[in-house]
Amino acid sequence: MARLSVDGVTKVFEEKGKEPHVVLENLRFDIEEGQFISLLGPSGCGKTTLLTMMGGFQAPTSGKILLDGVPVEGPSSERGYVFQNYALFPWMTVEKNVAYGMKFSSMSAKEKQEKLKRLIEIAHLQGHEKKYPIQLSGGMQQRAAVARALAGQPKVLLLDEPLGAVDFQMRELMQNELEHMVREAKITVVMVTHDVSESVFLSDRVIVLSSNKGRVVADVPIDLPRPRDRSSEEFDKYVFKLTNLVRRAFQERTDTTF
Ligand SMILES: Nc1ncnc2c1ncn2[C@@H]1O[C@H](COP(=O)(O)OP(=O)(O)O)[C@@H](O)[C@H]1O
Ligand SMILES: [Mg+2]
Repeated sequence: MARLSVDGVTKVFEEKGKEPHVVLENLRFDIEEGQFISLLGPSGCGKTTLLTMMGGFQAPTSGKILLDGVPVEGPSSERGYVFQNYALFPWMTVEKNVAYGMKFSSMSAKEKQEKLKRLIEIAHLQGHEKKYPIQLSGGMQQRAAVARALAGQPKVLLLDEPLGAVDFQMRELMQNELEHMVREAKITVVMVTHDVSESVFLSDRVIVLSSNKGRVVADVPIDLPRPRDRSSEEFDKYVFKLTNLVRRAFQERTDTTF
């Protein structure tokens, strides 16, 4: 059985005085346990909408999202989530932020303390435990946000452009760190990105969604050994192929409101 199934999901937004906006229509795909999946697609094609439905923050208009065969019906610690912009609680220190991810866990206080130490290590944040988010670099904040999402021992980690706010030089380093963190956690990951090279570096499989009702334009397995060599010809071939697919996905746009 698939770990996560998108089972005929449609999402329509209705606003007064406007035509209903069909963002996703009858979307269908499965994600196997332990896979790292990227959702790639033009801005506004419904990536965040889909991820928030996987997170249980909003419901599909029709169809279902299933985790191990059970319909997702609300947020749960089974699904760790890193939001697009607001990564950390600004009023909490790094360790309080990460520990928050364990708030609803049944672990003993001692287990939680050990787990916290381990997560701080995985995220390379030793020595920064008592700092507040504002005292950290963007990269450190993002690492702490991923550590917090992993703290609840989720079955699935949902990442919405987790490196979106990180500058170019830092981004590749962060991609290495993210790969390291999720490999250690042996977890299923769904990541939204619009960075093609990032999706090739991190994913087992890249799903390209179109601007036209989130149709799956392509579902591309990335068949390269890890860690991936960004300077290899094979890597470039995937980037080229996926860039063209995203271009096509953008051209599928049916409205003219851009
Ligand atoms: N709550 C909402 N009400 C109305 N429209 C929405 C709502 N959320 C998202 N949308 C619209 O749905 C489309 C997809 O948005 P989103 O999922 O954020 O796209 P992406 O993450 O791919 O950039 C956009 O046109 C957006 O304006
Ligand atoms: Mg988005």
